[in-house]
Amino acid sequence: MYTSKITGLGHYVPENVVTNDDLSKLMDTNDAWIQERTGIKERRHIKKGDGNSTSVMGVKAATIALEEANLKPDDVDMIVFATLSPDMYFPGGGVEVQEMMNMRTIPALDVRNQCSGFVYAMSVADQFVKTGMYKNILVIGSENHSGGLDFTTRGRSVSVIFGDGAGAAVVSRSETNEGGILSTHLHSEGKHKDELALQGPSTEYWVPEIIEKNPQEDIPYYPYMNGQFVFKHAIVRFTEVIHEGLEANGLSIDDIDMLIPHQANLRISQFIQQKLKLSDDQVFNNIQKYGNTTAASIPIALSEAHKAGKIKKGDLVVLAAFGSGFTWGSVIIRW
Ligand code: ACO
Repeated sequence: MYTSKITGLGHYVPENVVTNDDLSKLMDTNDAWIQERTGIKERRHIKKGDGNSTSVMGVKAATIALEEANLKPDDVDMIVFATLSPDMYFPGGGVEVQEMMNMRTIPALDVRNQCSGFVYAMSVADQFVKTGMYKNILVIGSENHSGGLDFTTRGRSVSVIFGDGAGAAVVSRSETNEGGILSTHLHSEGKHKDELALQGPSTEYWVPEIIEKNPQEDIPYYPYMNGQFVFKHAIVRFTEVIHEGLEANGLSIDDIDMLIPHQANLRISQFIQQKLKLSDDQVFNNIQKYGNTTAASIPIALSEAHKAGKIKKGDLVVLAAFGSGFTWGSVIIRW
């Protein structure tokens, strides 16, 4: 069994800043409501003509991560790409990245696990490196939410929360056998699949069928979220899976140097922090600036925290996520 570790991190967000006041010009909402409920002050949206897409942003983040890892695209043995907003219905974003970065005919795998996508993707990469099958895996989380949200008052409880962006990590075989990714922990509970979902367009809800059968106010090709139900489950599962990860390694809450929770909602992060009795400098949040970027939120936050010098060698870093499915998980890392 080999040891795997993160050797490079990168992130990219579009330049276009959309404030809460900007949204209030499109729908009946206001800065106070959004900040009070979610902590979000602004988010980034792709602007028509800026050249960005889910895959393009993924490439931008990946380029930085590979540079930091001191690797060339040719050194990458596999791509794992997490997104719920791929450029195309099929094929996925992984092959687009492979093509844009001129990589060899390496495997490219898309992970569709929404807010838990990056944690699942890291777990996949970790297994392939630990078993010795691959040496360097490029893990990307990238989302273009702004292209698929309802920016009228009808969609306000969902559309104010999400933002666009990408983050990437290089998971490599460690030469030292010290620390690295200690373990990953994954769960799902499909009975709650309808509580946070985008039903179509899909094989169940093709566009002509939607137009024919649904009144204008009930179009299922915008995301639906049962906000309070999601909130209640998120806080329980987040704390459970953090404890599970620590216990599996004989560690406790006191050992955490940095918790990077999926940036779902600042209130959720604060609730977890309080429940686990962590101090402000043990938890990293940037949802205030970027909104919820689902599969991209953890790699953006991890990359930003690392670049800001908030993670040092030897630190115990915990990644944790919860999202649609429901799916949830954690990654325990000794930096
Ligand atoms: N601006 C102004 N008013 C709004 C908005 C808005 N953007 N959205 C909804 N409202 C109104 C509603 O219409 C409702 O009005 P009414 O009382 O007249 O009917 C009122 O505000 C309260 O609506 P609720 O949906 O009950 O609001 P709630 O307090 O539950 O807050 C929220 C909604 C923020 C989504 C909350 O439920 C929450 O934090 N849920 C957690 C889910 C979450 O954060 N998901 C993130 C994505 S999932 C993930 O990443 C895991």
